[in-house]
Order: sequence, then C-alpha cells, then structure tokens
Amino acid sequence: MPETLSAAPQSFDDLLSEAAVQTPTEFYNRLREQEPVYWNPRWNGWIVTGYRDVMAGFRDHERLSSDRFAGPFAKDMADSGSRYRQLIDFMNHWMFTKDRPYHTHLRSLVNTAFTPRSVEVLRPRIQQLTASLAESLRGRDRVNLMAEFAFTLPVIVIAEYLGIPPESRENLRAWSDDLGAVVFFQGGNQDRFETGGKAMEQLAELIRPIVRDRARNPREDLISGMVHAELDGDRFLEDEIISNVVLMVFAGHETTMNLIANGVVAFDRFPGEWQRLADDQGLARTAVEEVLRYDGPIRALARWAREPFELSGRRIDTNDRVLLVQHAANHDPTFFPHADRFDVGRWPNKHLAFGQGIHTCVGAPLARLEAQEAFAYLAREFSAVEVLTPDLRYSRNLVSRSLLGLEVRLHER
Ligand code: HEM
Repeated sequence: MPETLSAAPQSFDDLLSEAAVQTPTEFYNRLREQEPVYWNPRWNGWIVTGYRDVMAGFRDHERLSSDRFAGPFAKDMADSGSRYRQLIDFMNHWMFTKDRPYHTHLRSLVNTAFTPRSVEVLRPRIQQLTASLAESLRGRDRVNLMAEFAFTLPVIVIAEYLGIPPESRENLRAWSDDLGAVVFFQGGNQDRFETGGKAMEQLAELIRPIVRDRARNPREDLISGMVHAELDGDRFLEDEIISNVVLMVFAGHETTMNLIANGVVAFDRFPGEWQRLADDQGLARTAVEEVLRYDGPIRALARWAREPFELSGRRIDTNDRVLLVQHAANHDPTFFPHADRFDVGRWPNKHLAFGQGIHTCVGAPLARLEAQEAFAYLAREFSAVEVLTPDLRYSRNLVSRSLLGLEVRLHER
C-alpha cells in the first residue's frame, strides 16, 4: 500500500466530525500530542488542548475576552441581529458573555445565592426528589433516563429555587434546547437563530410577570432576591434580571442533566466503580468530580484575543478566536495520572469542567449537590444502571457533551 494511504495524517479541522463529536477523548488526545496550540483554518481560530494552556486561557481576562458581541463573534451576531433583536439584546446581558467591569456588576446579582452554604438548605428537598423520581423507575424494562430522571431532577430544583411555579415549567426543556442550539454553535441547524429567538421571547414572557410580582410581593425565592438586590445603592434593570433568570434556567438544568447522563455511561463502562461507590457512599463527592473530569458536560469554550500574545510558542493575534478545550485538558496525562481511567476515588482532581477565573461556574455547588445525591442514591439502591442504547449519539456542536438519548435498565440489588 502506498505510504500516503497508510499513514495519512488525521485532519483536525472538522471539529464537528464524527470522531470529534463521538469520541472526543481520542480526537483531542491526538491533537494535544501533535500540536497543543493548533490553528484550525476551518473554524478560523486556535484550538488549545494542554491543561496548562487551557487553565492560563481561562484566567487571562486581560488578553482573552468572553464578549460575544465584540470581536469576531460579533459578525455572526450582527448577520442575524436585525431579525432577532430580542434574542441578541437578552444574551447581551448574560453574565458569561460579558467582560469586566459589566460582568462583575451582573455576577453580583447571584454571587451569594449559590455558595455551598446557601445551597445546603436544598439538600433535603433534593434527596426527597431523587428518591421519588428513582422509585418511579423501579421494575421497568426500559427507562428513558434523560427525560425521566436526568432532566427532571435539575429542572425542578432550579425552578423551585428561582420561584417559577410548577404549571409554567412544561416547556422549559424545549425552549432550553432551542437556546442551546444558539449558544453551543450547533452544526447543521440553519434555523437556530429563528427557534432560539422564539424560545427567548417565550421565556421572557414567562418570567417578566414573576419578576414584576416579586417586586411588589417578595418571597423566599431567588427571583425575589435578584429583584431586591442592590449594588452601591442601585437596583438592576428589569431586562438584566430577566435575562439572567433565563440563563439560570438554561444553565441550571441542561448541564446537570448531562452530568448525570454522562456519569451513568461512565459507570456502565467501569462497573467496578459503581460497586465501590455503593460500598462506600462517602465517595459520592470524589465520584462526581471524576465524572466532571472524565466526561464533563462542557467540552470547550470560546474566547477571542484583545491583543497579541504568545501561548506555548504560538503567536495569537488581535481578534483571533481561541477555543479552550476543557475535555482535552481534563485528559492531559501530565496532570492526571492514568487520565483515561475512570476512578471514583481520584484525589486531587483539579479538573476544568467548571472553568476558571471570573466566569467560574456560579452554579457549581448546586450541580455538585444534585449529582452527589443522585449517584449516591442510585448506587445504594440498584446493583447497576445498565445502558441499553446500543449506539450512543452526542449532539453535534462545539461546546456541550450532550447525549441525544439514553435508555437504561435499573437492576435490583
Ligand atoms: C454540571 C453542571 C454544570 C457545568 C459543567 C457548568 C459549567 C460551566 C462553565 C464551564 C462555566 C464557565 C463559562 C465561561 O467561562 O465562559 C459556567 C458558567 C456559569 N454557570 Fe455553570 N455549569 C453547570 C451547572 C450550572 C448550574 C446548576 C447553574 C445555575 C444554577 C449554572 C449557572 C452558570 C452561570 C450563571 C454561569 C456564568 C458565570 C459567569 O459568567 O460569571 N451552571 N458553567
């Protein structure tokens, strides 16, 4: 066989290829080994895969911007902007799309609401919900784990915490999926701005009256906290509150759903780890960190360069896009011994699944609490959660690691 055929170098240009989406660990491991800071002409930006560089990228707020409405992302937004004004205006208030100092202002809306101590009060309710949802699945031949457990638990928790009444929660998943297509750069979805725009409109319509009601009748919920929050004597604008409530509805369940689902898949591949967790429930904390590292819900996040600088010997120019691939960093063998092994006792485990720096996930303590309770309960009650879906498929996008479906059987102990 001619050498060109047998040794054709793999192309790393199509980040939405089958290999990149379905088997990102192998794909990005190879890229990290060959070129840890790689210029991708097709995406028109740098792909960063080494742990040290990804960490540095997240922390470099001076030279790397998160502002989707400036720099090279602005064109995507502007092209669609005039038709989807409301979508763009609301996303323009999302804290994760902004830089300092406006980011600091927006983040102070919720800074204290998600500390480990604040979310601890939710633990009994999370335990009760976990038990009742899991018990309803007992004895069934097939369970749609995403729809019947992994989605339901976090959506109820975040909706209750925010103060969104049960009768208004029905469409949250569909609307979040539509917003996700915009936020996660979904491939092959030409209508994403259209459907995302409609979803944003409907979410805003749902949340606006609740915000207005809480202004007059405050309750013990997060929306009331946001409406009455003050920064240096100033209140927040109504649209700032509404858009960040939408962000929390979206970020608060989509990612946690994927954490639970990806964890179930990891345990299915490493059944010994399931038994370890069942035998020692104290491992729930490190087990969840290991799921986050091994197959976390966010695969990569984009930034753009405000000024030229060097990263591992490559020159990044002003306005270049930079993709920080957390999934690759979390499998970097220099930082994680036996990185491709799933070890529920792994410690220390300084993964980058929640990002780093000023944008570090504000909801991390809540996501951790939910996932710890979910896995502890399932491992205690069931000898296995067997994956039945023969060919697992993941959403074709750059950012999230999200299964399109997951059918399982829960085996009795
Ligand atoms: C396992 C679940 C979760 C994962 C893996 C995750 C991941 C992340 C990551 C990587 C970021 C950083 C974004 C960036 O640097 O551009 C982030 C930010 C954020 N997350 Fe999460 N998240 C999760 C759960 C949650 C939950 C439960 C909530 C809300 C209740 C939430 C709300 C947010 C918000 C509001 C931000 C923006 C913070 C900022 O820009 O200052 N997330 N998340």
